[in-house]
Amino acid sequence: MSVIHRLSDLLINQIAAGEVVERPASVLKELMENALDAGAAALDIQLDQGGVRRIRVADDGCGMAADDLALALERHATSKIASLDDLEHVATMGFRGEALAAIAAVARTSITSRARGAAHALRIDAADRCVVPAALNHGTVVDVADLYFNTPARRKFLKSESTEFAHCADVFTRIALARPDVAFLLTHNGRVVHRLPAADAPRRVAALMGDDFIGEARAIDADAGALRLSGFASLPAYSRASRDAQYFFVNGRFVRDKLLTHAVRQAYADILHGNRHPAYMLTLDLDPAGVDVNVHPAKIEVRFRESRAIHQFVFHALARALAESGAAMAGRSGAHVRPGDAVGTAASAPAADGHVPGWPQRPPRQGLLAMEAAAGAYYGFVGKALPTDAPGQARADASRPSALAGAEPSSETATSLLQRDPSGTDSSRLQPVEGAVSGPPLGFALAQLHGIYILAQNAAGLVLVDMHAAHERILYEKLKTVLDGHPAVQRLLIPAVVALGAQDMAVAEECAETLAAMGFEVAPLGPGELAVRSVPALLANAPVPELIRHLLEDLRDHPVSEVVTARRNELLATMACHGAVRAHRSLTIPEMNSLLRDMEATERADQCNHGRPTWTQLDMATLDRFFMRGK
Ligand SMILES: Nc1ncnc2c1ncn2[C@@H]1O[C@H](COP(=O)(O)OP(=O)(O)OP(=O)(O)O)[C@@H](O)[C@H]1O
Ligand SMILES: [Mg+2]
Repeated sequence: MSVIHRLSDLLINQIAAGEVVERPASVLKELMENALDAGAAALDIQLDQGGVRRIRVADDGCGMAADDLALALERHATSKIASLDDLEHVATMGFRGEALAAIAAVARTSITSRARGAAHALRIDAADRCVVPAALNHGTVVDVADLYFNTPARRKFLKSESTEFAHCADVFTRIALARPDVAFLLTHNGRVVHRLPAADAPRRVAALMGDDFIGEARAIDADAGALRLSGFASLPAYSRASRDAQYFFVNGRFVRDKLLTHAVRQAYADILHGNRHPAYMLTLDLDPAGVDVNVHPAKIEVRFRESRAIHQFVFHALARALAESGAAMAGRSGAHVRPGDAVGTAASAPAADGHVPGWPQRPPRQGLLAMEAAAGAYYGFVGKALPTDAPGQARADASRPSALAGAEPSSETATSLLQRDPSGTDSSRLQPVEGAVSGPPLGFALAQLHGIYILAQNAAGLVLVDMHAAHERILYEKLKTVLDGHPAVQRLLIPAVVALGAQDMAVAEECAETLAAMGFEVAPLGPGELAVRSVPALLANAPVPELIRHLLEDLRDHPVSEVVTARRNELLATMACHGAVRAHRSLTIPEMNSLLRDMEATERADQCNHGRPTWTQLDMATLDRFFMRGK
């Protein structure tokens, strides 16, 4: 007697269901995807008891005719592909012809459908497979009740109603995010949870991820050949403690992909603290032939044919968008606008003319004039207090203020200025900045506050800068650039002597070459004493012993080979932190202005290396609100 026997169809389907139907949320996903594949413009979803009791998805798609209705519940029956070639180019969500069969094997399932042009609707019950006439205007209704009613072992693995509902809501959110063009209604236990009309992407994203996310996000839209990356990615200030707001879609399909996640993390690596997570909604579109979607039972993983190229593209597109600092964007129209925000990074400094062509090389004359007048007048007022050797020194003579703006002095400017200020000498009064629509995005320094903040005036109003954080970022970015080549070094006239423990001495000797490549020439002087003969020129003013000790700490537990590559940025961050101006060091106005100019020219200048903001804007409207002006 043979011991091998064929499994029944029901059992086969129940086994298959183990892979496809993990919980109510997986049923919901399959039904929603089927509706979208059928070309639906609106989906009406009803859940009861977390989807365990009932999941009902109604759509207004193409519907099914009588023969198809019976086949839809069969395993390996699909209308979506017919050949291997189709599979390799598949553009629909479904293609296996497996979902409905699997669902019908583990829940009480019925389908009511009306094909376009059909005289009436039909209904099939999975239990008896009888097709009977039914009432339905158009589209399809799939009703799935009592999940796992016939497989009690699986039923035991279901979690509480609220947990199962939360999973369903996740699935709903992912699909609704991917398809803003489709209207969705989600009700749970008779209560409406989401009512989403068809919309454009920003509106849909705002509805599901929050207005504050959209307000704090960079819009991404990049393409390279047939590759396109679009969506929204949060700026570091909006980072989160968890990964719960991260959505990546490939050709409209939500995926969890290591390669893509890695590319995103890498794009944020420089601007986000390690234990903070960005929020994003990103869509990668590519030729379906370039991605294999048939690698995971729930199709949540994909495999790219050219994975390296995809990684590079996603990383660069995202990093570029994030690096474009708000300071650089402040003058551009529509850039990073957050209406209604009281205090916002770069938010409220839009130039009235929409853009600042080529600033700072060729500033628009009209706008600059007003800014210069303000700056010049101010410097005229305080200039006497400044040390005479300070570069960019301001003068009471307002005819040469352009040195401050980094622009060529022009006689036209001087003449107009004099005309505008007939007294010529009364420069203690700030010129009105009416019509001042441009000038440097971060404006001109006014003063230093408690040795920590720089106050500056730009076209939009008041700018506040955390000077240490800003300087740290600037140094970090500069160090990254110079250390790629041969960094300029500053030889110390008298070597700095650093007292070290035995372990650090050993590390210093071991890593002497690495340190030299970074601009530090070190040599042991005697037991426990290290001489530092040179430092990178950028860090000429840094406190050497402290800096060296921290660097050696960074180097300590890591093999030399790793240091140069993986931990390099960490070392640079340590260097930048020590090299940056300390709080309570008083800066001159020219020093502050040069810091502002450096910020404008630095990528990612909006955040320090730890992801904290470096500056913020208080625009005139906000200030007016404080004082109820114009009310
Ligand atoms: N809402 C719907 N409207 C119209 N046709 C549908 C709908 N749902 C399912 N169908 C039809 O039933 C077939 C079987 O659906 P099923 O979900 O089992 O498989 P599939 O979508 O083809 O592939 P997959 O198993 O990958 O989801 C589909 O190919 C489609 O023709
Ligand atoms: Mg399907």
